[in-house]
Amino acid sequence: MSTDKPIRTTQADTSAGMIDLAIGHPSPSLLPVELIRRAAERRLATDFTPYLQYGYEPGDGYFRTALADFLSRHYGRQARAGDLFVSGGASQALDLFCTLYTKPGDVVFVEEPTYFLALRIFEDHHLRIVSLPADEGGLVIEALEEQLQSLHPLFLYTVPTHQNPSGATLPADRRRRLVELSREKEFMILADEVYHLLTYGEQVPPPLAAFLSDAAVLSLGSFSKILAPGLRLGWIQASPRLLRPLTECGMLDSGGGLNPFTSALVLSAIETGTLDAHLERLRKEYGSRLQAMKAAIDSCLAGQVDFFPPGGGFFFWLRLLDGRDSATLLNAAKKCGISFVPGSAFSAGKRLSDRLRLSFSYHPAETLRVGVQRLAESLFRNPPIV
Ligand SMILES: Cc1ncc(COP(=O)(O)O)c(C=O)c1O
Repeated sequence: MSTDKPIRTTQADTSAGMIDLAIGHPSPSLLPVELIRRAAERRLATDFTPYLQYGYEPGDGYFRTALADFLSRHYGRQARAGDLFVSGGASQALDLFCTLYTKPGDVVFVEEPTYFLALRIFEDHHLRIVSLPADEGGLVIEALEEQLQSLHPLFLYTVPTHQNPSGATLPADRRRRLVELSREKEFMILADEVYHLLTYGEQVPPPLAAFLSDAAVLSLGSFSKILAPGLRLGWIQASPRLLRPLTECGMLDSGGGLNPFTSALVLSAIETGTLDAHLERLRKEYGSRLQAMKAAIDSCLAGQVDFFPPGGGFFFWLRLLDGRDSATLLNAAKKCGISFVPGSAFSAGKRLSDRLRLSFSYHPAETLRVGVQRLAESLFRNPPIV
């Protein structure tokens, strides 16, 4: 078969010479092929092969027990296997939740800014998206209280720790108040906690998964950021009552529990401690990339942007002090060999146009430095393209 175009395999389409700071994927150099090879060898070495069969609907019991142990250690809170549902990653969990819990027109509260691809999923399900302001400490609780006077959301979607895109982390007192409000006003909290384990600075408050018995909280986790997105493996942590519609749904009745084979590989990685070691390595490397990007922004963009440095996750969220619309600057930036995500992508109402998101996860530190230099040149030394 002949084709003019190169055969694509990954979602990120990086062209030669471009430093794409829009890509929020794990670094190719940090994808743990040796860990996966060893995990597979260990798992495939015996004839005990339930993972080749249709799986138990909530997910394999051994895997969920090991995952509960892993989360108990890393969250500093007891996690229970019975509160875990194995998903095909956080995106799939969001979509399945919407399929089973929502109908078109239901109200969902989101932060502004919020994870832009969650907005896409909510749109697929024709939900009514209502944005709430967020600041350096994440969701502004007073704004939530005010909206709750006139609207009754089915659920609130939040990324409480090292948010994508803002990097904000919700402080402990706001977490507690959010949980109280969820109980008082009877809405669910869908907490997307995929960056919780990627903390490089100060300790963060306990995840919203710590409040399962206090309110209707569903906490999403994923191996995409801490191992490899190609595994398509994640989990939902929630009370068995909230998980029931998921475990009893027709899709699982027909196809069995999700991803038993990849669960079996990750089970090996948890049992042997290689996941813990990998997580340590990621924290070190991403922590130094974060510092490299911060230093580059401080030196190349001083006086032009403001931001607060994140304590983890993958992103910097910049505000252009001159108020220009970052989307109109993107073409000029690409001509300079640099890309970013314009701020308006993270707002359901296409606001926040004077913001932009830079990712420090994909490229090594040296490339990040060059990337930020190019960004500064394109934004402030070239006339804007109108
Ligand atoms: C906040 C957030 N949630 C979910 C995802 C996607 O996670 P998964 O690969 O587990 O579907 C991402 C990836 O960028 C993300 O930033």
